[in-house]
This record gives sequence, structure tokens and C-alpha cells, in this order.
Amino acid sequence: MNTDQFLVTPALKSIEKVSFTWQTPSNIALVKYWGKSNPQIPKNASISFTLSNSNTTTKIDFVKKQNTTNQVDFDLIFEGKPKPEFKPKIEEFFNRIQNYCPYVFDYKMIISSENSFPHSSGIASSASGLSAIAMCLLSLENELVADLSKEYITKKASFLARLGSGSASRSIEGPIVVWGNHPEIEGSSDLFGVKFPHNVHPVFENYQDVILLVDKGEKQVSSTVGHGLMHNHPYAETRFKQANENLILLSEVLQNGNLEKFINIVESEALTLHAMMMTSNPYFILMKPNTLEIINRIWSYRQENQSNICFTLDAGANVHVLFPEIEKTKIMQFIDNELSRFCQKKHYICDNTGLGARQL
Ligand code: PMV
Repeated sequence: MNTDQFLVTPALKSIEKVSFTWQTPSNIALVKYWGKSNPQIPKNASISFTLSNSNTTTKIDFVKKQNTTNQVDFDLIFEGKPKPEFKPKIEEFFNRIQNYCPYVFDYKMIISSENSFPHSSGIASSASGLSAIAMCLLSLENELVADLSKEYITKKASFLARLGSGSASRSIEGPIVVWGNHPEIEGSSDLFGVKFPHNVHPVFENYQDVILLVDKGEKQVSSTVGHGLMHNHPYAETRFKQANENLILLSEVLQNGNLEKFINIVESEALTLHAMMMTSNPYFILMKPNTLEIINRIWSYRQENQSNICFTLDAGANVHVLFPEIEKTKIMQFIDNELSRFCQKKHYICDNTGLGARQL
């Protein structure tokens, strides 16, 4: 794997003080990534919808230090207040990327970040949060090195974001991104996400994702622990093979618009992810009774209304309700009338596919 392409070789310009602000979205995997080896190399390829309204906005003020040290120096302000408890994860991120971004040692960084979604809503903010930092770093690198191509910036930002959180590699571009080397997806790589390379059927344009907030609590299992449990998992190899096969099937469906097959693959992937957790040791059940209640009601609604509604899950109890834009009015009524009561404080977030990182 050629990681040398991400080293900074030319001499750097001298810039005393500069700021950049980026807004990057979360994403929801359709074929899931669960299992990795070092350094953040996925055991199978995954594919996701990039979201739009669930995003993080991050500004980084870079101020050149008088003397470069071998210490990364940054302050973290989250939603207007210092957040020391978030610092270790970002510190670890800087440690992992320092060879590719040696300029981080030259600057004091003030990172100010906010999420569009409520904190502790059970929505993973690592994908949007780390991809936003990666974009700010690439903006700085672009000034220091000058004339980086847009293609290189996108690729390296995804490469850096991946080193922070695997799924963050899929939050730079949109609306559909593949991460993980797959023989049938041209240009795909374990090192960074790439835009789905084929024409997508119009039914998937502006695809809707309503996130039902069933449980806003802290994650029961961190994704680091979860991925780790795939190492001695009895079904691991079969699972990795299945995911790569599902990606081929989903690639066809995304091109031909066969929603019946789409629903079958996406729901099976969601339940398989949870089945992996239930069959690891130690084992976990991350779904709650209301998660199951919602799933059963989605299935009944689909049957009774010949609808194309379906669900997917992340590593938690919240339910992502997916459907084509054309069904929006009817399905929003169904969500309001029948599903919202199973959410904490009736909270849900309306989102749809989006185009990825945006500089502000
Ligand atoms: O990016 P991580 O290491 O937090 O892993 C995320 C894994 C899932 O969200 C459960 C699935 C996925 O592919 O996004």
C-alpha cells in the first residue's frame, strides 16, 4: 500500500497565522465495516450514504509557535466551552497522523467545534468530527505547499480521517462512498474512501434517512472494543466474505434501482452487524425493546402500503429509517403518528443524502 504519496516533501512556505472552517457530515453505512487490523485497515469493504443535516462545523486557528517542539499543542472548544474529556481521542489522532502532517508541530491550534445534532444523541460524532479536522489540516497544507490538486486534498483528507476513525474516511465526499479495497470497485482502497464510481439510479437521489433517537445514552461498547471482538470471532471470516459479496450486489442495485433488493441487503447488513455483537465474547445486545418495536412496525407498514421504507442500524439502539424522496409525505406521517412515540422525548432527526465536506 502506497502511503508515501501522503508524505509532505516540498519545502513549506512560512505562514504566521491562519484559520479555516469546514463543515463535514456524518454518514450511514449500508454495507457495514466491523473488524479491522492495524493501522485502521478494514477487514472488508464498506459503502455508505453521506448525510447532510447531521454534521460538525470545526474552525481551527493556527498560530505559528516561536520554537517548534516535538509536542502537538492544541486547545479544544466544544460548543463554546473547553472540553478536556474529548482531548485524548484528538491527541491520539494527531499522534497517528504526525508523519503525514509534520507541520502540526509548528503551530498552536485552537480547535472550535460544534455538532448540528444534540450531544449524546447516540449519533456517532467521530466521523463528522474527525473529517472536519482533517479538512482544516489539508487547507493549511494547501497554503503551506501550494497548488495541491482538489483530488489530492480529498484523498489525503479521507486518509487522515480514517486514521482517526475508520468510518470518518467516508465523510469527505458524497452522496455514496466506498472504503476498503474491493476488486469490483475501481480505485477503491483500504487507505481512503472513494466516491461510488458508477451512475446511480435516480430513485436514490436525495434518499431520506430519518434517525429515530431510541437511546441517547453513552455507547455501551466503544467501536475500538467492538472491532477488537472480531479478532477471535467464530463467524469473522464468513462475515468479511459476506460483506464483500453484499457490496457487489448493492453496487448493481444502486445502478439499476431495484428497491426490493436494496431493502433486503441493507436490512440484512444491519441485523448481521448486531448479530456479530451478540455472538462475540464478551457479547452485547445494543438494540432496545423500542428498536424491535420500530423494526416490526416498519415491516408491517411496508407490507400494508407497498412501501419501500426500510431500516438500518449503527452500533447502537437508534434506528435509521431509509426511503425514497417520493414517499416522504406519507412516511413522515407514519413516523409522527406511529414511530416517534418509541423515541426518547419523541426526538428524531430528518436527514438525506448529501455531498460531503463544505468549506465555510
Ligand atoms: O469508525 P468506527 O471505528 O467508529 O466504526 C464504525 C462502525 C460502524 O459504524 C458500526 C459501521 C460503519 O461501517 O460505519
